[in-house]
Amino acid sequence: MMNRILSEVDPQMAAILEGEMKRQQTCLVMIPSENYASKAVLQTQGCIMTNKYAEGYPGARYYNGCQFNDMAESLAIERAKRLFGAEHVNVQPHTGSQANMAVYYALLNDGDTFLAMDVSHGGHLSHGRKQNFSGRYYNPVFYGVEKDTERIDLNHVLDIAMKCKPKLIVVGASAYPRILDFKEWREVADKVGALLMADVAHIIGLIAGGVHPDPVPYCDVVTTTTHKTLRGPRGAMILCKKEFAEKIDKAVFPGVQAGPLMHVIAAKAVALKEALEYGFREYQAQIVKNAKKLAECLMKEGFRLVSGGTDNHLMLVDLSDKGVNGQEAADLLEESGIIVNKNLIPYDTKPPTQCSGIRPGTPAITTREMREPEMEQIGMMISRVLKHPKNAKIRAEVRQEVMELCRNFPIYQDIDIWR
Ligand SMILES: Cc1ncc(COP(=O)(O)O)c(C=O)c1O
Repeated sequence: MMNRILSEVDPQMAAILEGEMKRQQTCLVMIPSENYASKAVLQTQGCIMTNKYAEGYPGARYYNGCQFNDMAESLAIERAKRLFGAEHVNVQPHTGSQANMAVYYALLNDGDTFLAMDVSHGGHLSHGRKQNFSGRYYNPVFYGVEKDTERIDLNHVLDIAMKCKPKLIVVGASAYPRILDFKEWREVADKVGALLMADVAHIIGLIAGGVHPDPVPYCDVVTTTTHKTLRGPRGAMILCKKEFAEKIDKAVFPGVQAGPLMHVIAAKAVALKEALEYGFREYQAQIVKNAKKLAECLMKEGFRLVSGGTDNHLMLVDLSDKGVNGQEAADLLEESGIIVNKNLIPYDTKPPTQCSGIRPGTPAITTREMREPEMEQIGMMISRVLKHPKNAKIRAEVRQEVMELCRNFPIYQDIDIWR
């Protein structure tokens, strides 16, 4: 019973995983929050630490038998501190949303006001959306991007902050293609006496790679996921100043979580080691170069990009004048082997189920070692598909071209972890 492999125990699930493997290998994964975790990360995430209860923190657990779990978690913490120069790190949050939940739980009381980016302008659900816990238990007030520049204007943010007097300002987004200057955000927070939290879930890898300004010196707390540009296992971390360490740790456990996912924490440690290694900075720089090249190509092809381009790993393509909405575009591209997600554009007139835009990103295709020439090729393919939405023949041709490109930039060739 214990030694049977997946394909013997559950051929149905093995076949599903085979299908997903083939999909990831033969499609262009261009959802900017997705990536390919390394074999070492996958191996660790599938390890025996899934068996262990380890409530508490290294050296102070509520369960016995935690010596190796303490070592794994301490290693993750130490590596994260080294990589980001953080005073304190908590590696236990199961997800980015739970990391944010823990920070609010630590720093706010029910009903307190916090200021964050509007979801419809690029913020995240956990930044105060009314259907989310963050909008239900607190009082979120929102800033957005300006109508003309489609960028955040910090003077405008300051005006709003002066009026609503937030206890906490949240800077960070899921769909903002421009740089965030955390030093300037600190100045805004100080002017209104607010705490400052950066949610860098998307751009954490760029920060580690030195191609995006660093929030750690300026923010009281920084939350991040580990599975996006950082290329680790699905999960999250919180970095903070020493003075908030105890509050944050208590908010994560026992505040919003119980048993930590030790197998995932072990895999976070491995991903952080990879991020400290030679080549990671180059990888991050290439993500940005690739995004800029793709943006340039799409604009040359007549697509309007929100804010006129990108400084990071993603871009928002406005399809309002192209006769397809974001959902239709994402479906047409998926048929062609290019996986993107629909996205609202700022001041969108369409509902979130349709959206006027798509949000392509380059982290995963850069992991496959694609470079600028491939970005031009991909830009042309996206353009051909979206300019001819009624032409199934073009989609079939592009599907073949995508297959060929994926063959030339293989991924997970020798991974065989479930057979
Ligand atoms: C800015 C931001 N914060 C938080 C999250 C939440 O992460 P998770 O999906 O792990 O809850 C995301 C996810 O996309 C995000 O973009």
